[in-house]
Order: sequence, then structure tokens, then C-alpha cells
Amino acid sequence: MYIFTPITKTTVYFMRKIFYPLLALGFASLAAAPSHADNGIPGYTPTEEIIQAQKEFSDSKFGIFLHWGVYSMTAQGEWYMNNVGIDWREYEKLASGFYPSKFDAAEWVSAIKASGAKYICLTSRHHDGFSMFGTKYSDFNIVDATPFGRDILKELADECRRQGIRLHLYYSHIDWRRSDYPKGRTGLNTGCDRSQENWPQYFTFMNNQLTELLTNYGPIGAIWFDGKWDHDMDPDFDWQLDEQYAMIHRLQPSCLVANNHHETPYPGENIQIFERDLPGENKAGLSGQEVSSHLPLETCETMNGMWGYKITDQNYKSTKELIHLLVRAAGKNANLLLNIGPQPNGELPEVAVQRLKEIGEWMRKYGDTVYGTRIGEVAPHPWGVSTAKDNIQYIHILDYQDDAIFLPVKSKVRSAECLNTGETLKFTRTGSGITVSLSKVPDETDYIVKLTMDR
Ligand code: GLC
Repeated sequence: MYIFTPITKTTVYFMRKIFYPLLALGFASLAAAPSHADNGIPGYTPTEEIIQAQKEFSDSKFGIFLHWGVYSMTAQGEWYMNNVGIDWREYEKLASGFYPSKFDAAEWVSAIKASGAKYICLTSRHHDGFSMFGTKYSDFNIVDATPFGRDILKELADECRRQGIRLHLYYSHIDWRRSDYPKGRTGLNTGCDRSQENWPQYFTFMNNQLTELLTNYGPIGAIWFDGKWDHDMDPDFDWQLDEQYAMIHRLQPSCLVANNHHETPYPGENIQIFERDLPGENKAGLSGQEVSSHLPLETCETMNGMWGYKITDQNYKSTKELIHLLVRAAGKNANLLLNIGPQPNGELPEVAVQRLKEIGEWMRKYGDTVYGTRIGEVAPHPWGVSTAKDNIQYIHILDYQDDAIFLPVKSKVRSAECLNTGETLKFTRTGSGITVSLSKVPDETDYIVKLTMDR
């Protein structure tokens, strides 16, 4: 039944003073706030496939980065060519001696899987321009330029599929060897004739290689770009990212795009990356960009000090430090991409394998407090972080001090348990949170309090 309501003075007053202003405010905030549909990046709408892949990526929490190439032969890290100024014609000779006789993809993947990592990111081509895959578009590649002659990427991709772990590919936008790559900040001392620079040709070359990577190696979880910062001094330099990203999404609709440019994400990017710092931190001086509230986050860090193999770098972080890094990343909603620099003989360094094994032992016990979680109710503190899944909050005390802790949780807590021992913990509500009495635990890597909340 239609009821006619007479428009009274009060109604007019209400409409003018309250309803319309509120409506206007609503529309204004709608226009200003980034929407989830565009991943918070105006001008780009991710597809259903991407949204699903983003969720799976965030759930997986832990990946292993592999920096491997002919630079490993120098045993001085992946920047050596640029750092000491090696002429590209001399550098090229490294390839003719590259024979990683001990390389065994199955061994690598098993060692990595044992750590609990859910994906591997391999440097398919780094700044030195060497391709770790068989490519028609450059002779300087693992199949054609080395006596080894095997397609490393193919073997790794097949093995990843066999063992059920996702594969991501690092791809540098830089080339210190090709003269068509436009002169940037780095690689100025490698003997390239930069007068030959030719962006359209170089851009086509990259896209051809990316097409190979996305057609010949099965499903690729993400393309991880690096090097955009090489042209930072020229803000007008057009990398044509839109076009490149669209091509990637066309070739593999579930492939996530990430770019280590240290800036606010661009349209078409599906992950925000942080280098050597957790989101919101800037100890390494590479971050400082705003943290996206819509995109999955990932922090990359090395097990020791260098990305590529460096013979003198035995400065490995302890297993405890690495677990803390992983947990702190999860407590900031980020994944950890932990790097290893494989040796020139094709083996992963022994210390790295040991670390993988020990992280795995911890993950087998406590992985549930990390995988599939998102940031919890308690914000990150110097003492630790919280992660959450459904009605469970995991409080990770990484720096255990006192036998009680105050947790600012607003929701009603049903029970508290020390996950390390299974003991029930006593707690009392105190003002804006609860105070939990802690027991002493033998494993001090991470004292985990499991809070079960009322739904
Ligand atoms: C930096 C380095 C590069 C490394 C990357 C990994 O961009 O230039 O060598 O691959 O970080 O995050």
C-alpha cells in the first residue's frame, strides 16, 4: 500500500540540513576513497583471476628468492659488472665457462619446500643481461652461450610443477650490455655504445622475452620487475608499463605483476614490494612510499648480505632472526621473499640449506599462525606482532620480557592458550584490553598466545 507522507517544515529542514549534506559527503568520500574494485589504483580494474591470485599470494606468506646467473661465477654479487666496470665483451666470456655441474632442480625445490615456502622467484634475466632460459632474442643465454647448454628455467619450472610449488620470475628492465637500452644511471662503464640507444627496439626485445617466459614454462605466478629506478633522473622517461603489464595479463590472466621501483604502485601492478624493509619502515633508505591498504605486500630480504653469490659473505642471519622476520612481515600483512644466492657450481650454499631446514621445522609446528592469516587486532610492537584468521588471534611475542602482557584487544576473548605448550592462560579484562599471565616456555623463538574470540 502506498502511503502519502505530507512534506512538513520539519521534513524540509531535515532534508536540507542533514540528509543532503550527508549524501554529498557520502558521494565525495566515494569519489576520493580508493575502491577495492580497482585495488586502490584508479584507472585499473583487476580481473576475478587476479583477485583470486592475490588472495592466494597473501595466504602463502613465504617465498624464496634465487639470484643466479653468470655473475655467480665472479662470486662477487650480481652488481660486479657495473661496480668495477667490466667491458661487456670481457664479461661475456664468463658464459663460456659456466658449467654448474651440481645443479639439480629436484634437490633445490625439495630443500626450498622443506622450509615451508610456497613459491620460488628466480632471476630470469638480471641487469647484466644474461638470460637463464633458452631465448630466441639474445644469444647471451644459458642454452646457447654456455657449455652447460641446459635450460635452467625449464628444469626448475617442471620441478616446481611436479612438487607443487609456485614459480615467479624476476625480470630486470635494465641491460648493461645492450647498446639499444637507453642510458640510465647505471652500467655506464661497460663499454656499450649508448649512441645506439633505441627504446622501441629494446621495448620490443623485452616483450618478446616476456612472451617466451609466459608461453614456454607453464603457469607463472608473478613477474617481478626491477630497475625502473635506473631512469629516476628523467621523470618523463616512458617505460610503457601499461602496455607491458596488459600484455602479461593477456598472456596469463592469473599472473601477478610486481615492480621493485620503490614508489607508489602503478595501474596494472598487483603486489606492492618493499626491499630490505618491512612495509612502513625505511632503514635501508629504499622505501618511504605509502603502504597500500588494498594490494598484497611483499618484503624481500637476503639470508646474508648479498643477493647474488658472494664468496666472502658468510654473514648469515640466524634461524631465529629469519623466523622473526617472517613473523613480523605477517604481522604487517606482508609476505617474506627470502633470498639465496646459489653457487656457480649449481648448489645452494650449505648454510642456506640448513636455514631452510630449520625454518621448516618451526613452520611445521607453527605455520598455522602465519599461513592464511592477516594482520591481527594488536598493532605491531617492538615486542612482537599479531596475526589473525577467523575468530582466532595469534599474539607472537618475539621479545619475551615479563610474565604478563597487556594486549589492547577490543573483541570479547573466550579463551587464551600458550600455543608452545598447550597450557591455558589466565587473563583479566583491564580497561581497553586484557592482561594475560604468561608461563615460561623452553622455545623462545616465538612465544605464541592463541586467543579465541567470540564470533
Ligand atoms: C636491487 C638490486 C638488485 C636486486 C634487487 C632485489 O634492486 O639492484 O640487484 O636484484 O634489489 O630486490
